[in-house]
Amino acid sequence: MSQPAPDVIDLLGYRIHVGPWLLEQAGRIAAEVAPAHVYAVITDEHVGPVAAPQVVGSLRHYAPHARVILQGVTPGEATKTRATWQALTDWLLGERCGRDTTVIALGGGVVGDLAGFVAATFMRGIPVVQVPTTLLAMVDASVGGKVGVDTEHGKNLVGAFHQPAAVVIDPTVLQTLPPAEFRAGMAEVIKHGVIADVGYFDRSIAAARAILGVPAAEVDWTAHTLTRLVSDSVRIKASIVAQDPREAPGGIRQSLNFGHTIGHAVEGLMDFRVPHGHAVSIGMVLESALGETLGVTAAGTTEIIRDRVRSLDLPVDLPSGLSVDEVAGACRRDKKARGAKAVFSLPARVGAMAVSAHGHGVSVESAAIISALSRA
Ligand SMILES: NC(=O)c1ccc[n+]([C@@H]2O[C@H](COP(=O)([O-])OP(=O)(O)OC[C@H]3O[C@@H](n4cnc5c(N)ncnc54)[C@H](O)[C@@H]3O)[C@@H](O)[C@H]2O)c1
Ligand SMILES: [Zn+2]
Repeated sequence: MSQPAPDVIDLLGYRIHVGPWLLEQAGRIAAEVAPAHVYAVITDEHVGPVAAPQVVGSLRHYAPHARVILQGVTPGEATKTRATWQALTDWLLGERCGRDTTVIALGGGVVGDLAGFVAATFMRGIPVVQVPTTLLAMVDASVGGKVGVDTEHGKNLVGAFHQPAAVVIDPTVLQTLPPAEFRAGMAEVIKHGVIADVGYFDRSIAAARAILGVPAAEVDWTAHTLTRLVSDSVRIKASIVAQDPREAPGGIRQSLNFGHTIGHAVEGLMDFRVPHGHAVSIGMVLESALGETLGVTAAGTTEIIRDRVRSLDLPVDLPSGLSVDEVAGACRRDKKARGAKAVFSLPARVGAMAVSAHGHGVSVESAAIISALSRA
């Protein structure tokens, strides 16, 4: 069977290519949009063995006169620090890289954010091509230009906006992704469905259930349904970012925070022992329950979201030991809070977000949060 042409999303001033076997085209795409004398591929030690040979081979093929250098960092969030940023920029300097260097960020969101931040700052900014390899990084982290590192004071507190020169998404690379990471990425996919498209919401969950229902070796990773699962999500995120690139107060980019006010509260209160996708799943269920209580969200929305989240084995309840009072308190301390009130992005129903006179954020008193969460 012949492969369908890759999907190309061109809403943000750079192209996002989605399709099977695109890793082998990464060199062609990079050479077109970010010609360089040195290509610095930054990856992690899980992704390197499964994806670096294709990308390095493609760069050597399509940019035969360029030098290709490769660095693998330790996998995991603990690597997304200024110390690793320093080690990577020192590596580039040691390799005598100059402004004629392009960074290739090959990995999940950790590598994308870190390598993107290296590119944003090295020599005051050099191009980066994002090549995401987790579902989360494909549908979320690689799109929109936010890059950065964590500090002891919190996640993503030092960073920049640095748009990629291109994004290259090859869904076949998901073959080696642990199923738990695929599920975690689905939380953001469900979020995109709730925000913008009920048809996509149903379709993407059905596609994910089919993928997760059989061993990875039996999945057709080249299937059009998988490419569509990814590219439709990218299109939703990209069209929102295009309308509000820098997240203006009350702007539409805030709708991407659905599930994330409570999600971040849960992550913080649990010292990040709850994976982000789990925290967002719980957050989406509880925030839509809050929306129903406030009369902002159509009755029955919470039940639909709860059912679909559960069908992917993602959690729907607060972790045991966390009280609704603690969660409400943490929501009020969130960086989106206005004064003493927590701010939420709430759905009108599955497929559309609520918009008020203040735009996309709804400020809510603690008492209302506590009462809604106690009944959810
Ligand atoms: N910039 C943004 O807009 C944005 C948005 C959302 C999340 N993020 C950031 O993304 C990060 C989370 O990203 P993530 O969930 O991709 O985590 P991750 O990068 O830590 O990847 C998860 C795990 O999967 C492994 N892995 C990646 N691809 C693989 C593959 N194809 N096969 C086998 N193993 C593979 C990694 O080595 C890692 O162990 C967080 O730091 C978060 O802050 C950024
Ligand atoms: Zn998220």
